[in-house]
This record gives sequence, structure tokens and C-alpha cells, in this order.
Amino acid sequence: MIMSFNLENIISIRDFKKSDVDYILDLADEMVPIAKSQQVCHKKDGKLLGVMFYEPSTRTRLSFETAMKRLGGDVIGFNQKQGTSVEKGEVLYDTAQIISQYADAIVLRHDMAGAARFISQNVDIPVVNAGDGPGQHPTQTLLDLYTMKSEIGELNNLKIAIVGDLKYGRTVHSLVYALAMYNVEIKFIAPDELQMPPEILDDLRKLNCKYSIETTLLDNIDDVDVIYMTRIQKERFPDPKEYAKVKGKYRLKAANLKDNDAIVMHPLPRVDEINFDVDKLKNAMYFKQAFNGVPVRMALLDSIIKD
Ligand code: CP
Repeated sequence: MIMSFNLENIISIRDFKKSDVDYILDLADEMVPIAKSQQVCHKKDGKLLGVMFYEPSTRTRLSFETAMKRLGGDVIGFNQKQGTSVEKGEVLYDTAQIISQYADAIVLRHDMAGAARFISQNVDIPVVNAGDGPGQHPTQTLLDLYTMKSEIGELNNLKIAIVGDLKYGRTVHSLVYALAMYNVEIKFIAPDELQMPPEILDDLRKLNCKYSIETTLLDNIDDVDVIYMTRIQKERFPDPKEYAKVKGKYRLKAANLKDNDAIVMHPLPRVDEINFDVDKLKNAMYFKQAFNGVPVRMALLDSIIKD
């Protein structure tokens, strides 16, 4: 039985021990009836979450806000720079100092890798990284693991195909370090120019994580338990011509999943990489995955915001 969680900030999945991950996944299970509005919770009555989103978001921001409110707390903050004093030139450090005067924890999404770590070292309330450029997205990783575990039963012995933008995708940069804590096999499916960065592959080798590098989708999904699709992220390409070369490279259709029981996951938003006809299949797990963000983020907020 895992009894405690000792992280003060949620910045990178690499800060987690396996016992921390397992603790959050177990606690998330207990949060599900509250997340579904079947029970009412007052654990964080009177507490305020400060959300600072410098980049667009639908799921992460709204599921954090839902999580805090389901715990009995409330939310302040902003979802774009417009309308804040950032427009007058206020720097991230100062804005975070101000939010830390008002709130009991900060959730930060920023376009600069390392932004959340920097803020966590400069305020005296807990900080959660809600995505820092091409860096990390640790809370997405925890909800991804929670989805795999609750749908398949366990995380050990899984075969996982991770598809799409592996170069710039912060969700997959986080996810692979968490998967490496378990006995899994990963297929990285991407065009050569969007493959997983070599330094991450080096780390995975040192962690004895089994993986292969692939470039084609359809002949690599028959023997896997999870197909984790990602969007090729136009906004991260320095050169639009490079984006045009890889755009639309992988597209999963219902016909490709005949006699295949793999669950299909995606951090979302999708563009064209999963056809709408996949949505009606039992394989499609991405909307449930998005719901799972609520109990998982409730578990995280409950753990870091002290009573
Ligand atoms: N998965 C994810 O981070 O989605 P949003 O960008 O909508 O928050």
C-alpha cells in the first residue's frame, strides 16, 4: 500500500518516482465519483487555484478548473495574455509573484521550455507545469497512464505505438519517461525528421526501455495494445515548408482497425490524424482519456495544496 506523495511541485515526470505515479493513479480512482458529480467534496473549500495560460488550451485548463471546483475550491487567472499586464510588458516572474499573493497554487502553461521550473523556484506556493513549449506535460502523462491502466488492467507488459510528432511533442516527451518505469515495448512511428530526439532515446536505452524506430503506421499496429496518436504541430515548426512535407502523413481510419483490439489514444486536439469514423469504435479512448484528466488533476491538486 503506497502511503504518501512527497513532491511539492509538478514540473517534470522525471521528478516522479514510480511510487509517486502509483500513488496518484490510486488516488485518482477515489476521485472518480466526485469528478462525475455523484459525490460532493469539500476538501479544498476556501482554496484558490491560479491559472496562468500563455498558450491556448481547452482540456488542460478546463479540466484543472473543473478539478479544483469539484474539490470545493475556486479558480482565478487568465487564459491568454490579452487583457493582462503582460501586454504592458510585465515579465513572467512578476506576474507569477502577483498570482502567488492571491492563490494557493499556480498552474502554468507557457511556450518556453523550463518556464514552470523557473517559476517554482521563485514563488512560495506549489506550481504545476501544464505544458512548457516542447518541454514536458507531466499531468497529461499521468492521465495517459491512468487511461491505459484503467482500460487494460495494468501497465506492465504493454506494447505501445506512439505516432506522429515525436520531435516537438511534449506529451510524448513526458510519456516515454513514465512508461520506462514499467516493463513495456514502444514503437516510435514518425517521419525521420520528426523522430524522438536522440537524447531521449539515449535516456531510454540507459533505463533499459525496449523500443524500435518505425516510419510506417499500418504495418506496425496489429500487435500493440495502445495506439497513441499525436498531432503534427504546425505551430512548432520554424519553417512552414518543413511542416508542409510531413502534414497529413499518418491518418488512422476505422477500416485500419478491423480485428484490432488496441485502444486508440490521443492527447487532442486532433487535426486529421484520426478519422471521425474511428470515434464510434470501442477502440476509441480519446474522449474518455480527456475526462480522466479531471480525477487525475484532482488527485494532484489534493496532494500538493495543503489544508
Ligand atoms: N492535451 C492537451 O494539452 O490539450 P489542450 O492543449 O487543449 O490543453
